[in-house]
Amino acid sequence: MARAKKVVLAYSGGVDTSVCIPYLKNEWGVEEVITLAADLGQGDELEPVRKKAFQAGASESLVEDAREIFVRDYAFDAIQANAMYEDRYPLSTALGRPLIAKLLVEAAEKYGADAVAHGCTGKGNDQVRFDVAIAALNPDLKVLAPAREWGMSREATIAYGERFGIPAPVKKSSPYSIDRNILGRSIEAGSLEDPWVEPPEEVFVMAKPIADTPDEPEYVEVGFEQGIPKTVNGNACDPVTLVTQLNAIAGRHGVGRIDMMENRLVGIKSREIYEAPALMVLIQAHRDLESLTLTADITQYKRGIEQTYSQLVYNGLWYSPLKEALDAFVRQTQERVSGTVRLKLFKGHATVVGRQSPNSLYAADMATYGEQDQFDHKAAEGFIYVWGLPTRIWSEQRRRS
Ligand code: ARG
Repeated sequence: MARAKKVVLAYSGGVDTSVCIPYLKNEWGVEEVITLAADLGQGDELEPVRKKAFQAGASESLVEDAREIFVRDYAFDAIQANAMYEDRYPLSTALGRPLIAKLLVEAAEKYGADAVAHGCTGKGNDQVRFDVAIAALNPDLKVLAPAREWGMSREATIAYGERFGIPAPVKKSSPYSIDRNILGRSIEAGSLEDPWVEPPEEVFVMAKPIADTPDEPEYVEVGFEQGIPKTVNGNACDPVTLVTQLNAIAGRHGVGRIDMMENRLVGIKSREIYEAPALMVLIQAHRDLESLTLTADITQYKRGIEQTYSQLVYNGLWYSPLKEALDAFVRQTQERVSGTVRLKLFKGHATVVGRQSPNSLYAADMATYGEQDQFDHKAAEGFIYVWGLPTRIWSEQRRRS
């Protein structure tokens, strides 16, 4: 029995997704495979990728430039939520999956496919993100994941591909598993599998080694409107340009490298290396601007929301009722988060050194220790009496008993 008739396959042009094409047709009886390559700013030429799909037996090969949507509707939402999984990973890979899932579902509906497919293996988070996002968007579609089932080694996969005219990779394949998009790079495997081993310089591309960074600091100003990044050094730019520019500026100072042990949804720990210069700077700047423009209670309450939000995104629940509800909360909080943050970039560090906003809640005449002080010092006494009253009563009672 064929698993499906017509399938839309998420396609990168690499050996594994290429092998999925003949595999789906020959092993699983699929009649027609349509590939879809999404441009999320990974920097690959997509025209050759389009051709490769036909060579591997695809009946149609779609290419979509999704960079703008990716940054505007996924990354900028996550920045408003200051999303950092386990406080460290800005979700650069994770954010791309729900978008690719959406493009797959749209293509499946347009071309009348009864299934979508991806080349994820059974060990990572990405399979979960695809499968769950697809189920959320169109529960009637089947999801096929051949690489999760075929059990072929790397060599066997290449050999299988060669039988169907898929050329073996020309350059010696890298020992690392790398995922890349405009937001950053995720690097795992190879020598990195030993958590004690320092990542070799060769794994980094976006953030310069400290030895090669300028000896002078550089200042950069990021402007936000309602929590959305809009300007770099005073110049308005579209989302893709903004992220591209900040990647270059922060990257040349070595900003945005992350080396962490991470808890995957599938229950295993993995050692992950990331670089995400622009995203790290944007979250840092955005968070600082919130500290200036949001009340104390919102700022503090939002931290918990942010943590839940990050877990949902990491765990594949981008399209889910709780995520929608959190989005509404985050959106509401951003109304007055407008202004400019000034950062100093130097030797691998981005440090916020200034912030300003027309909506600033900073009351200089209240905060100052100088002549202009308007704060009613006497009022503090009564406040502290009431504030400390429960503690005083508790202490007295403890002494008695
Ligand atoms: N651990 C990260 C995540 O789950 C990155 C996975 C990236 N995939 C890769 N082939 N390196 O979001």
